[in-house]
Amino acid sequence: MKRIGIAGATGLVGETVLRILESGPHKIEDLRLFASARSSGAKMKFRDQEYEVHEVDPIGFQGLDVAFFCLEADLARKLVPQAAKHCPVIDKSSEFRLKPEVPLVVPEVNPESLKGHENIIANPNCTTIPLVVAVNPLHREFGLREIWLASYQSVSGAGKAAVEQLRYETEFVAMKQKPDSKDSPLGPQIADNVIPHIADFDSHGNTGEEAKTIKESARILGLPELKVNSTCVRVPVSVGHALAVSCRFEQVVKAKDAQRVLKHAPGVTLRTGHDYATPVDCRGNDSVFVSRVRQGAGTDELSMWVVTDNLRKGAATNAVQIAELLGKLGVSS
Ligand SMILES: NC(=O)c1ccc[n+]([C@@H]2O[C@H](COP(=O)([O-])OP(=O)(O)OC[C@H]3O[C@@H](n4cnc5c(N)ncnc54)[C@H](OP(=O)(O)O)[C@@H]3O)[C@@H](O)[C@H]2O)c1
Repeated sequence: MKRIGIAGATGLVGETVLRILESGPHKIEDLRLFASARSSGAKMKFRDQEYEVHEVDPIGFQGLDVAFFCLEADLARKLVPQAAKHCPVIDKSSEFRLKPEVPLVVPEVNPESLKGHENIIANPNCTTIPLVVAVNPLHREFGLREIWLASYQSVSGAGKAAVEQLRYETEFVAMKQKPDSKDSPLGPQIADNVIPHIADFDSHGNTGEEAKTIKESARILGLPELKVNSTCVRVPVSVGHALAVSCRFEQVVKAKDAQRVLKHAPGVTLRTGHDYATPVDCRGNDSVFVSRVRQGAGTDELSMWVVTDNLRKGAATNAVQIAELLGKLGVSS
């Protein structure tokens, strides 16, 4: 029996963690739910019982086996170290991902990096996770040199306000009216549009999201010199991130050999021939779907199409898997 806390339980990722725990084999005797003062007193259901949501307070994490933090980075910066004095914290924000003392973990790829953690474990970005789950088995077999990535990212990657914005704008566009996007969390209009801008630009001209995919994937794969070319694009889809990925390897690679490797790769569901997955297909699923594996421009290059549910394997499922690896959910040690 375990004692679990979720900070940001009323958000998209926090609620997904709750639903995954609810449907899993985990025996939970103490569940504490936290969010902002706005949600204080609200009730959330978990296995036929109602739990009250409290304003997040580090003292509330005393005596827990593990806490899932699903808050924005500026809140995580202050609150995660305070909570980590009481229990291991698995943090979904970008705040700690590149700190050398904090492991950045995808259980299928680098579970060994959890060893010696100091109670803070970072969960990678929702585009980085499917990317490394798909390319790591190919790297182990063929030696990865370079990645070219173009992402097609759903609006739920930007939280519940972004999902509302898409819903609102879509209604206006359907009535042939111009929606008001002035205060949109996504920047420009998203309905009937695509936006190549997720988080602020850096001095190289990369966006924050592109920088995350570049730096985090190199760290998780243990390849600090890896070349990653990334363009991240927001598309008018509610849930499910899609990635067009091309890779260059240290040796000649045939598509059929890559498929042989991917067929048995942990966390991967491979589709072959003309069968491919879309965001609609992957919703509610914990797999990273890989399809359209084919020869690239060179004999040492491959291209593929990678899709995952950003709220599950891209966020909550990965965090729950980390807690399982830590032996904090009573299902493994
Ligand atoms: N969405 C994704 O696909 C995804 C994937 C990977 C990583 N992430 C990261 O995960 C984190 C959560 O994302 P999300 O999509 O779940 O966001 P979200 O839907 O906007 O939810 C945000 C959560 O934070 C709470 N919160 C807001 N202000 C607060 C405050 N001042 N004090 C305490 N709690 C506060 C909200 O509570 P109220 O309901 O009370 O406002 C809500 O529970 C972010 O760091 C995000 O970058 C998200």
